[in-house]
Amino acid sequence: MNKNATFSISVLSGKGGVGKTNVALNLAYCLFKGHHDLLLMDCDIGLANLDVLLGITPERNIQDLLDSDISPEDVTVPLAETKGFDFLPAASGVPELLELDEEMQATLFERLTPLFSRYHFLFMDLGAGITSTILSFATMSKLRLVVVTPEPTSLTDSYAMIKVLATQHNVKDFHIVVNQVESKRDEQETFGRLNAACERFLGFPVSLLGSIQYDKAISESVRRQVPLMKHAPNSPAAKDIFQLALKLAKLREERHAALVKETVLNLPSGWDFGS
Ligand SMILES: Nc1ncnc2c1ncn2[C@@H]1O[C@H](COP(=O)(O)OP(=O)(O)OP(=O)(O)O)[C@@H](O)[C@H]1O
Ligand SMILES: [Mg+2]
Repeated sequence: MNKNATFSISVLSGKGGVGKTNVALNLAYCLFKGHHDLLLMDCDIGLANLDVLLGITPERNIQDLLDSDISPEDVTVPLAETKGFDFLPAASGVPELLELDEEMQATLFERLTPLFSRYHFLFMDLGAGITSTILSFATMSKLRLVVVTPEPTSLTDSYAMIKVLATQHNVKDFHIVVNQVESKRDEQETFGRLNAACERFLGFPVSLLGSIQYDKAISESVRRQVPLMKHAPNSPAAKDIFQLALKLAKLREERHAALVKETVLNLPSGWDFGS
């Protein structure tokens, strides 16, 4: 597959513990079930969590790619019996990996790019905070999902993250997921506040992807180390996540169609459809 065809999505927040890892894992699970090839990458490098949510103990992780010549394919873990749903684990308890220097980031991206190009979707579960590694992953992705909860501390941290990406990396395209809402009003108010701050102080709006209800089934699924979509597919939060996955699949199709159109329009003159 052409590397431009891979729809890379980073899941970020600024504040910790708002639900990024659960959102990334369950959206990935839905899209794989919808027949998309998908790589789920733990980008919380140094403080990995996805392996715990999946209940697996990977033999290798991203750190091995930095330390040896091992191929990225040897680090990925298949998550399904059929092909097309893979996991790229990160190391845990390795503080020096939290802040990769520019050279290490470049090495890592160079080694991973051929792997990414094999998938329709790449999901990057980022850690909390605004480290340069987190900012690089967010900048390189085609779509940024900002997970925010109705708590004011979550809102201010998400705004801070968006501001740094906009002012230092010229990134101005963000999709918001409001997590742990008690009502539709929670969604509207939380999104409204974040959007108003971005418009007023940064000069651009953000887009609402949707919201996920507060649902005890999520913490139950975490305790059981099984994705929510598998543990309780009919729970309110699972239904919300399914709707968000549908929107992401549509966004990918739209962007893919735009890319194909651009490629066709840029074909050299004299290019003959009949030949
Ligand atoms: N919609 C929800 N309803 C109820 N509980 C939730 C919901 N989303 C997340 N949680 C709870 O929040 C906890 C933290 O979620 P998660 O680990 O996905 O957050 P995170 O943003 O990835 O955290 P970190 O910043 O540490 O990586 C979960 O273990 C779960 O108990
Ligand atoms: Mg996490």
